Amino acid sequence: MAKVKTSFFCQNCGSSFSKWQGQCSACKEWNTIAEEVIQKAEKVNWKVSETSSKRVSKSLKINEISTASEARLNTKNNELNRVLGGGLVPGSLTLLGGEPGIGKSTLMLQIALQLPYKTLYVSGEESAQQIKMRAERIHPNSENCYILTETKTQNIFTQIAELSPDIVVIDSIQTLHTDYIESSPGSISQIRETTTELIKFAKETNTPVILIGHITKDGNIAGPKILEHMVDTVLQFEGDRNHVYRILRSQKNRFGSTNELGIYEMQGNGLREVSNPSEILISKNDEDLSGTAISATLEGMRPLMIEIQALVSTAVYGTPQRSATGYNAKRLNMILAVLEKRAGFKLGAKDVFLNITGGINVDDPAIDLAVVAAVLSSNIDISIDKSMCFAAEVGLAGEVRPVTKVDQRISEAEKLGFKSIVISKYCKIPKKNYTINIIKVAKVHDVVKHLFS
Ligand code: TYD
Ligand code: MG
Repeated sequence: MAKVKTSFFCQNCGSSFSKWQGQCSACKEWNTIAEEVIQKAEKVNWKVSETSSKRVSKSLKINEISTASEARLNTKNNELNRVLGGGLVPGSLTLLGGEPGIGKSTLMLQIALQLPYKTLYVSGEESAQQIKMRAERIHPNSENCYILTETKTQNIFTQIAELSPDIVVIDSIQTLHTDYIESSPGSISQIRETTTELIKFAKETNTPVILIGHITKDGNIAGPKILEHMVDTVLQFEGDRNHVYRILRSQKNRFGSTNELGIYEMQGNGLREVSNPSEILISKNDEDLSGTAISATLEGMRPLMIEIQALVSTAVYGTPQRSATGYNAKRLNMILAVLEKRAGFKLGAKDVFLNITGGINVDDPAIDLAVVAAVLSSNIDISIDKSMCFAAEVGLAGEVRPVTKVDQRISEAEKLGFKSIVISKYCKIPKKNYTINIIKVAKVHDVVKHLFS
């Protein structure tokens, strides 16, 4: 038996040290170094084929490199395809992170079941019976999906060699362990080693591999940061567990944009793709309610109509409360200060609550003007015409600023039957015959005149 060897690893960045130290000299974090048992036995990883071990890499002119083999695999799931930039790239490693219970396993199993390719779903978390029970709810008939409950990479590779699947899903990377390292599954060295083995397998066989990853309580993917560097794509599955909507974002994508966003709805029989999110994010009541305004926002390339609700009431306690869900609280304070100083509204002694419906988080600055409208509407208790929407940023001087891709926002509003849209006076819009009424404003003050006069 080989001698047991230990080494010290930073749990944050994955650097290794020969002895313990209080601060990691690589990432400067304190108290992150832990000892892990490693045992370097003789390594026989994913077996390299005869030809590939003899192959010597040669430099090639970029124009001579063919991309024909890079045709993407369609996942049969439009939202996922869009987030990935058009489908799975052969030989790529995709990491899907998200809070426990958010639906990572459900999403991946659903995709594995729908795919027309031979798919191997490796689970280290659930038994085959449990997976079968779930699969019956989601998609009862599937010809091409194989389930393997195994956590040892060497056994997984034996199965892969027998089955030669077109796609491999690993649920989850934190449960895997390799024989060549003796530390426990989920430790830094295990994650690093098993991911390296999987990368080698993916690149050599051109098989796409999807890894499911746990996240830590501050929202980062558990394991070394290096894991995110090693994979090609990092996707984040998020949402409020009490809401039915889930959002799939890409944090890193070597083969596409990271601005895209996919929306799903969790139902009794799996995740439904929401292809027209604007309809679900706007409540369909006929009453005129004060304090709601609709914003034409953009997430990635996709326009989204979002409803903003505000409640302004007299503060009961000394210090007024300000709270925002789905919107940056600091930005809300800024907007309230602008309204106070530039438009003369006395909001200093009022409690202000702001909510973006559907439990989603919006970063697009174009939502500012709708926030202003919702706050003012609630303050004077007069509702805003439901056929009006807003798309503009608000500056510190109370000016209404232009936003990007305004023609897309206008088209979406028009498509959904809005009668008017408020934008900045300085927006350049293409000369088209819009049926929607475009209201141009320059200052927050003008908005007030348009809304309530
Ligand atoms: P799961 O995929 O197990 O989450 P993760 O792998 O991210 O930890 O999701 C579990 C949740 O999803 C669970 O609380 C129940 C819910 N769910 C549904 O609402 N409908 C379904 O069809 C399925 C399979 C799960
Ligand atoms: Mg799971």
